[in-house]
Amino acid sequence: MEQNQKDRIDKASGAIQGLLQGQIPSALDIEGDPDDEIKQLSGYINRLIHDFGEVNEFIAPLAAGNLNIDLPVKNFLSSPFKQLHANLKHLTWQTQQIAKGDFHQKVDFMGDFSTAFNSMTAKLEKTQKSLILERENAIQFAETKSRYLNSLIHEIRTHLTCIVGFGTIMGKLSLEEKAKNCLDRINANVDSLYLLVNNALDLAKLEKHKVVFESIEFDMRQLFLDVSNLVAVNLSSKVHLVCNTAEGIPQKVKGDPLRIKQVLLNLLDNAVKFTKEGQIEVGAQIEDQDDLSLQILIYVKDTGIGIEESKLEAIFGDFFQSKSSTTREYGGTGLGLTICKELIEQMNGTIHVTSKLQEGTKFFFRLKFPRVPYDN
Ligand SMILES: Nc1ncnc2c1ncn2[C@@H]1O[C@H](COP(=O)(O)OP(=O)(O)OP(=O)(O)O)[C@@H](O)[C@H]1O
Ligand SMILES: [Mg+2]
Repeated sequence: MEQNQKDRIDKASGAIQGLLQGQIPSALDIEGDPDDEIKQLSGYINRLIHDFGEVNEFIAPLAAGNLNIDLPVKNFLSSPFKQLHANLKHLTWQTQQIAKGDFHQKVDFMGDFSTAFNSMTAKLEKTQKSLILERENAIQFAETKSRYLNSLIHEIRTHLTCIVGFGTIMGKLSLEEKAKNCLDRINANVDSLYLLVNNALDLAKLEKHKVVFESIEFDMRQLFLDVSNLVAVNLSSKVHLVCNTAEGIPQKVKGDPLRIKQVLLNLLDNAVKFTKEGQIEVGAQIEDQDDLSLQILIYVKDTGIGIEESKLEAIFGDFFQSKSSTTREYGGTGLGLTICKELIEQMNGTIHVTSKLQEGTKFFFRLKFPRVPYDN
């Protein structure tokens, strides 16, 4: 055999050996006219090298889970991968449908995998059905329970009203000192109970969004004076009350004066309760305004016992008091702030607190009020 012939066959067999070892050799450049058999063989080998190269390019991303690839069209090596690619794409789509709650999707490829996948889907469906059922039962149970509790509290209030009435009548009778003391203690306890019952009923109504809010014109500065006068009666002699409605607060705004008064009284009641000496300040300032509305920040600030930082988030939760001894030392049940938060949020406002132990506490809330035309 001629040397040139031998070299050409060596080149061709080297390329085939490379392919068998998993490499992608460069295309062969073998000279010869088209009828030359070695030239023809090198053409076939080059097609093989090209097809292997193409398959190699998409197999790596496919193995890494990337399904957004274009498979070569005229490549005999790629047809089994095309099937796998199509199945994986369909499986991805089916999984998305299952995630949306369509549990009818059934996978029917890859033997053991499809059995395991379909049984996982069936279990998911079963779990979801039982969770939905449990949730419905829990909601129904909670509703029955709250209806029962509310009617119970209502019933208690009816009887309490009667006790309060007779307590007042008895207070007008001439009683012995001992009997008068007993009556005072009965009245004090009945008052606390009455407050608790009213708070619980208020909260139940708020949570069911059954409180209807008014939007009427009212005198904001007068409202501040009224609440200040109401709480001033309970102030200790060492506490000074300051009412500070900043310049610019209009005399008249539109909103629900009763609910705002309820929030302010709750906050001031706390400030009075937890401040032995120093100052309590109640005030309002305009934060933002335009021709149609005003955003007013209203605050109650005290120099009382303060609240631990770790408790500040929980303070608006129901029946929460920052210490287990609070009820014994200061009374109350821990519903006041929960009611304030519900009231403010249902008036589309927000309420916050900042505090430092032994230094004092500031509660503040923001509300938007429509302007009253032609007001000063
Ligand atoms: N100004 C304040 N200074 C210090 N602690 C406060 C102040 N306001 C509230 N707290 C803490 O937050 C708790 C919850 O207040 P909240 O008004 O909800 O309940 P309460 O005053 O204990 O009882 P209620 O308001 O139902 O009569 C209080 O028990 C107290 O521990
Ligand atoms: Mg309170």
